[in-house]
Amino acid sequence: MHDEKFLADRVKPIGPSGIRKVFDLAASMDSPIDLSIGQPDFDVPEPARQAAIRAIGAHRNGYTVTQGIPELRARIRRELAAEFDQEPEVMVTSGVSGGLLLALLATVNPGDEVVFTDPYFVSYPHLVHLVGGVPVPVPVYDDFRLHPERIAAAITPKTRLLMLNSPANPTGVVYRNEDLRAVAQLAIRHDLLVISDEIYQRLSYDRAAPSAFAEAPGRTLILRGFGKSYGMTGWRLGYAAGPPAIIAEMCKLQQYTFVCAPQPLQWGALTGMDCDMSGHVADYRTKRDLVCGLLEKAFEFVRPEGGFYVFPKTPPAFPSATAFVEQAIRNQVLIIPGSVFSRRDTHFRISYAAPNETIRRGCEVLCRLAKS
Ligand SMILES: Cc1ncc(COP(=O)(O)O)c(C=O)c1O
Repeated sequence: MHDEKFLADRVKPIGPSGIRKVFDLAASMDSPIDLSIGQPDFDVPEPARQAAIRAIGAHRNGYTVTQGIPELRARIRRELAAEFDQEPEVMVTSGVSGGLLLALLATVNPGDEVVFTDPYFVSYPHLVHLVGGVPVPVPVYDDFRLHPERIAAAITPKTRLLMLNSPANPTGVVYRNEDLRAVAQLAIRHDLLVISDEIYQRLSYDRAAPSAFAEAPGRTLILRGFGKSYGMTGWRLGYAAGPPAIIAEMCKLQQYTFVCAPQPLQWGALTGMDCDMSGHVADYRTKRDLVCGLLEKAFEFVRPEGGFYVFPKTPPAFPSATAFVEQAIRNQVLIIPGSVFSRRDTHFRISYAAPNETIRRGCEVLCRLAKS
């Protein structure tokens, strides 16, 4: 009864995730064709699973130091050193979500503006709002490129940081080098921090996804995760790498919040980093080609280069993406309306992290609806 009175003001403007709503619908359906899921359909590599199990058996079940076990941090630093020719400071986080929250808590003052592209990952506006910042989404329709001139126009004296995400959720777009360079230059000119969410960095199918860190190392915080790359989303592991002062403050905040990432799973991820995932990446490249081939006769979309999403335009016969998605769900196909990731409701997200047969059946239904 009336227990809403106990709620803080900050939670009131936050609605439940539109993705959750589709998940709940899926749970009530017999055998939906599910193209809504944001996680790989492959499992954790066996050696990593065994390493986590061994760690539990070896009583490695207690807290770790808050920044993560030294072995995993050293392994991550080695990988970053090979990629960037320098070794940024590193901490292990509870998923990229944990890294995002700590990074924003550590860097955003109340009233600071945080600029990111629209469409955006569903959490960004809510997390910025939670820490008292002001979300500034910059529309990048219809090609979903990083548009430096639009970003530049959104920067004001109150802008504190830029949040980038490539390969991107929900569009699958990988930033072009020249756009990223131009945006890094903007960050330097306006003295802004860049948070670069690179959770899909391993899942880039046509070329290596460039990182803002290479352009502006002194002011870029990289957030990467193990979940999407190694099929371990439920292990809740990621890492943050970048300017030492920011990592130090994030560690301090982690002590009082998440404390540390789960120890046995850190040992599992350490082994996971030595597993060859190229077969899965090749599979997902094939799925990307499959889904694009199936959709191209009925939909307009930007060919995705990474992640496992496509973000097609709603067919003109439908008044909104939500109306199209409702019709798709009535026909057993679960997809997500663009309004979940955007201030617009003109596109919808398909996840192709699904068996090929599910992709085929789902795209067939969507094409039929588009033409009807
Ligand atoms: C762009 C992006 N960032 C962050 C996350 C959160 O990742 P994690 O499960 O590691 O918290 C996701 C998950 O879907 C994502 O798509």
